[in-house]
Amino acid sequence: MSIVDMPASLDSEFVSTASNFERLREIDPEIYLLTCREVIRQSQYIRLIPSENYTSAAVMQAMATPFCNKYSEGYPGKRYYEGNEIVDAVENLCRQRACSLFGADHANVQPNSGSPANMAAYYALMKPGDRVLGMHLPSGGHLTHGWNVNFSGILYQTAFYGYNQEQGVTGMDPETGMLDYEEIRRIALKFKPNVIFAGGTAYPRIWDFQRFRQIADEVDAYLVADIAHINGLILGGVHPDPVPYADVVTSTSHKAIRGPRGGFILCKNRPMKDDPATSLPDRIDKAVFPTLQGGPHNNTIAALAVCFAEAATQEFKSYAQQIVANAKVLSEALIAKGWHLVTGGTDNHLILVDVMRSKKIPGKPFAKALYDAGLETNFNSVPNDPRKPFSPSGLRIGTPAVTSRGFGEEQMRQIADWMERTATACKKEGKEYHFDPAAIAKIRAEVIELCTDPRFPVPGISI
Ligand SMILES: Cc1ncc(COP(=O)(O)O)c(C=O)c1O
Repeated sequence: MSIVDMPASLDSEFVSTASNFERLREIDPEIYLLTCREVIRQSQYIRLIPSENYTSAAVMQAMATPFCNKYSEGYPGKRYYEGNEIVDAVENLCRQRACSLFGADHANVQPNSGSPANMAAYYALMKPGDRVLGMHLPSGGHLTHGWNVNFSGILYQTAFYGYNQEQGVTGMDPETGMLDYEEIRRIALKFKPNVIFAGGTAYPRIWDFQRFRQIADEVDAYLVADIAHINGLILGGVHPDPVPYADVVTSTSHKAIRGPRGGFILCKNRPMKDDPATSLPDRIDKAVFPTLQGGPHNNTIAALAVCFAEAATQEFKSYAQQIVANAKVLSEALIAKGWHLVTGGTDNHLILVDVMRSKKIPGKPFAKALYDAGLETNFNSVPNDPRKPFSPSGLRIGTPAVTSRGFGEEQMRQIADWMERTATACKKEGKEYHFDPAAIAKIRAEVIELCTDPRFPVPGISI
């Protein structure tokens, strides 16, 4: 009998010894205490950063398994170490679940995160010095879509779509903040990219992947869809699916999909343009290992497999739909109070608020005041931002984590109200922005009351 077929009792004790914190408390009280504080922090703040979430207890338990002890350079069936028969079964299961969930031909579940997943796509599809067209970072793109301080901007020639008048960036309607696909096509025809990236970190609207495919075909470019932010929404059927259109789909495994921190890549089974004898899956796999990474994080892959199983349920679909419903209610409540939202609202899980334009407060001091009040957000540039990236005009908020807690439309209106009260508590003195401490403390008390309401338990965490 092979070790993979050996019966293992579901009553086995090891999971409980790995996932309770008795030993941690004994061996390292400092880290134990910090863990407890983070548990309380994640429970008692309203977490509105759109790239964050709460994983389930099952995902967290899979991360704390002995798979973290194993080295397994290579892929299932072709490893450089003995003892990988069970790890092979885990990785195969994870890959199969990814393919059936997203309807993809091939999946690589080894990237350590979203950035390495993107780097693997670059390596698989281009040579250094080739050309990439991506979304402009301050207009809502990601560092890895060609920004100059990132490998993508250092090793490749870049062009951007977005909007910045001073830098001459176009491809977004200056009035509405919506992507302008005709202009993106024009940029592509002129720049002739080898690869086009579709995806971003702060674009609150639908990505038209079919339109990107048409543009990519016109200029004979590969299309990469980076779905890091919208992975869960696609599975919930509340965002169009890029798999039929993109050659390669990259993603983080956290964010809306509620998995462990990691990454994965999906791709079509097609020959490479520069070498028809080589397939795209083969290139992707080689780019991840051995080009960019060594041994995969097997405990993360086990947790990702669990995440995919959870994401295949009807419960997850309803969750994803509620993320979008909540974001719409929150955006409408803010608009009703006179806030200016980039693009005038949202189609997805995130809202980009122009705080400067709405309330004459920069995003950074406002995010700090909200955090003091118990609302965790992040300051963010808005398209054509007249302010610098480290103190921009905007605030980025999102609903995946609060929806995981079970917050609904009533709580969204309450959040809008707290944001309004925080802005009202602001006084500008010279160059400084001060927020009335009594008003902030009052909101903080109300936030704690909501966060300790037994109707809204925190998934995977109990105090
Ligand atoms: C669109 C997009 N791509 C890639 C990444 C990179 O992911 P990571 O931070 O896990 O490397 C992010 C992270 O914010 C993202 O939003």
